[in-house]
Amino acid sequence: MSIQTEKIKELIAKREQARLGGGEKAIDKQHSRGKYTARERIDMLVDKDSFEEYDMFKLHRCHNFGMEKKQFLGDGVVAGSATIDGRLVYVYAQDFTVNGGSLSETMAQKICKVMDMAMRNGAPVICMNDSGGARIQEGISALAGYGEIFERNILASGVVPQISAIMGPCAGGAVYSPALTDFIIMTEGTSYMFLTGPKVVKTVTGEEIDAEHLGGASVHASKSGVTSFTAKTEEECMQMIKTLLSYIPSNNMEEAPRVECTDPINRMEDSLNEIIPDDPNQAYDMYKVITAITDNGDFFEVQPKFAKNIITGFAHFNGQSVGIVANQPSAYAGVLDVNASRKGARFVRFCDAFNIPIVSLVDVPGFLPGTGQEYNAVILHGAQLLYAYGEATVPKITITLRKSYGGSHIVMGCKQLRADLNFAWPSSEIAVMGASGAVAILCGKEAKKIKTEGGDVKEFLAEKEDEYTKTFANPYQAAQFGYIDDVIEPRNTRFRICRGLAQLAHKKQTLPAKKHGCMPM
Ligand code: HXC
Repeated sequence: MSIQTEKIKELIAKREQARLGGGEKAIDKQHSRGKYTARERIDMLVDKDSFEEYDMFKLHRCHNFGMEKKQFLGDGVVAGSATIDGRLVYVYAQDFTVNGGSLSETMAQKICKVMDMAMRNGAPVICMNDSGGARIQEGISALAGYGEIFERNILASGVVPQISAIMGPCAGGAVYSPALTDFIIMTEGTSYMFLTGPKVVKTVTGEEIDAEHLGGASVHASKSGVTSFTAKTEEECMQMIKTLLSYIPSNNMEEAPRVECTDPINRMEDSLNEIIPDDPNQAYDMYKVITAITDNGDFFEVQPKFAKNIITGFAHFNGQSVGIVANQPSAYAGVLDVNASRKGARFVRFCDAFNIPIVSLVDVPGFLPGTGQEYNAVILHGAQLLYAYGEATVPKITITLRKSYGGSHIVMGCKQLRADLNFAWPSSEIAVMGASGAVAILCGKEAKKIKTEGGDVKEFLAEKEDEYTKTFANPYQAAQFGYIDDVIEPRNTRFRICRGLAQLAHKKQTLPAKKHGCMPM
């Protein structure tokens, strides 16, 4: 055997060894917990044979606490480039079979390398988290490694999409890397995220809680809003990442991929002419409106379980990817509150950063009143949504379906926030507030007088409310001032959105020169 052949054999053997991660026993343990290994996860996600691994021979340099005996080729992360549906991505997966996926200085270097490559080459970064956090034996070097990763998460924000899949433990300061990325997907039952674990919680606050209830997928999907999606299985998680990527561009200089549209853009949807109930206080389901107007009824929802009073997600119109923000009348009457504002603002900002037009479907009675909201800074959170809409320079089309009152009218993509096209259905009520509230304020004294004089207050208030409704509970006052560009038949909504997007295809709008704004937080 020639020397060269021998060296090649050695390379092949080393590669095989690296591919075993922490060894067969650790792999079996990982499988017995219903989890795949880092390499299996990458294989599931990317196009067949497209993964090109980097740094698979990298070793940690720690000698504390017997670490020299815990050396595994490539250390605790698998990193490289690949394609998904033929598009370049950079991916890294923490390998729990190697020292619990705990982050060493060298692992951080591997991660930073692919993040730098992603930014240079304008491709998304996908990370799969399954780790015990900072490698304790390395002390400050491990912490510094996290610092390096966080800084890159920040620099990459708004430049390339960043997606985090949480498929195991993600605890302590380590949570801040996913938190800095654009989307988080958590696997149900096998992942958790928290700053301090159950033991610390018990010691400090006395509260007894297990990991699942403290930071499991369902908690972060419905209560905190930390995660954008949850997946029942790792396979579903990978499919969600692929679907998400199909709606977004690879970087902030590109448009999202266009898909073929087989759904006629002038398809009339007669059901929409009947969808608004006669009683203005009766709810209807905004999902029915969304799926009636998008291409083939497709809709990929973001944060479906959090703040259900606002709906956010991606769809296609005439093959073009669009972000939809819609009030949901069947959840708390579609009112805006702290969580709905946070959810909407985050989504609008993502769309704007990545050149995805925003279509807003408005039916909003106002902001939720009360101390619960005021003490939790609904003023600032509402301002976040306002700021996000006002700052966004992507094409913005707003359709008002029914209520659009007061501050919430302004916040939800009104004309003054530089929306490009504002359409309203004939059922729209665009006003400072609803009829009964307005009449109570305007005619309170008169009503009191009628009551003391023994008159019919009910009849008086009904008359005034009727007068108010005729004056304001319609789209025509706003249309009279040009704040609504057109009042449209509901069944024609899809066509007007498709045509609007075509008109706005080359929209150019800028913001005043600045380092950055100071978004209310
Ligand atoms: C070094 C670690 C480690 C860590 C796990 N391991 N976490 N090694 N540093 N942080 C090792 C274990 O020693 C063990 O090694 C192997 O990984 C598997 O761990 P097990 O405990 O056997 O697994 P399991 O029972 O599944 O428990 C997993 C776990 C637990 C829940 C993650 O290991 C754990 O609680 N780890 C510590 C978590 C933590 O507190 N991390 C620090 C967070 S603070 P052997 O050789 O025996 O197989 C932080 C700061 C970041 O991360 C700051 C950024 C700014």
